Amino acid sequence: MGFAVPQGGVGYLAPDGFLPELLRELGPVERVLGRLALCAAPPVRPTTVLPAWAQNIWHDLRVIPFTSIAQAATALKGLGPLWALYDEHLPRRGRARLIQQRLRGPSSRPLVFGDPLPKLPLGSWTLLDDSTLLASPRCSSPFAHGEALFVEDKTGPPSRAYLKLWEVFTLLDRRPDPGQLCLDLGSSPGGWTWVLHKLGARVISVDKAPLDPRLAGLPGIIFRPESAFAQSPQAIGQDAFGPVDWLFSDVVCYPERLLALVRRWLDAGTVQNMVCTIKFQGETDFQVIDQFRSIPHSRLLHLAHNKHELTWVWGG
Ligand SMILES: C[S@@+](CC[C@H](N)C(=O)[O-])C[C@H]1O[C@@H](n2cnc3c(N)ncnc32)[C@H](O)[C@@H]1O
Repeated sequence: MGFAVPQGGVGYLAPDGFLPELLRELGPVERVLGRLALCAAPPVRPTTVLPAWAQNIWHDLRVIPFTSIAQAATALKGLGPLWALYDEHLPRRGRARLIQQRLRGPSSRPLVFGDPLPKLPLGSWTLLDDSTLLASPRCSSPFAHGEALFVEDKTGPPSRAYLKLWEVFTLLDRRPDPGQLCLDLGSSPGGWTWVLHKLGARVISVDKAPLDPRLAGLPGIIFRPESAFAQSPQAIGQDAFGPVDWLFSDVVCYPERLLALVRRWLDAGTVQNMVCTIKFQGETDFQVIDQFRSIPHSRLLHLAHNKHELTWVWGG
């Protein structure tokens, strides 16, 4: 093989197009297969310092020599019930696919929003060469390659951004309760406001651009044609609407400006939960990522529905 492969190590799968970001976060790695970076087992890390640019983490790597397709399939079946094949980096995929055909794969049915996460553990595997498997029986995501796919609603939401909220609520298994107050900053044309309204939450929707006319004026939605940065945490907490249960931001702005906004809300102490998209323009700003990451009780995720963005989640 010519490369060290860390038995018992960890594999980190970058989202498509973001391997450089992942490698920058990880530092030196043993080997890279396509967009899968392999490391020796790291010290146990709290979730707050997990790499944000990993869409799936392959724990407890196993290196398994085999002599036949049947033997390879049997070895994997002995480690877990469901397997996803990662084969993007393989020059020839026939042998790997013959092995996968003998295994039970993840469900090909997209999730209906509101369904619980799949319960059976999903392992991931690939080939190191024609006679060596690399397998992880324990991955961080219950979805193949960390890609949460949903049965989409092609008519209701006014933008596809709604899929980011569906994904984050599904992964966290938390969402606003009916009647809770949500502040949706940078809401136009209204995909996120649509999701929140459907959950029965009350929504103050803020954007300088208009909200889709199908949403504007619905009971439970108040639209403010204002700047996200002009919303005062103290004023909203004290007006007739009561305190904000959830603050959402999908505002297109420089990450430092978003950081200043969330710090203002944290300092005011008038919000319980926040979900914000950090949008990078040009180069990825790793300094600002570290600043978001260092906020206690928060997590940084790259959702399958994020582009050159991360989702920062706080509270709960
Ligand atoms: C990606 S879009 C939001 C999509 C929205 N979440 C949805 O689900 O449809 C970003 C929005 O940020 C808004 N925006 C940019 N600067 C803003 C500001 N200072 N205040 C409020 N909204 C702003 C833009 O007008 C744009 O509608």
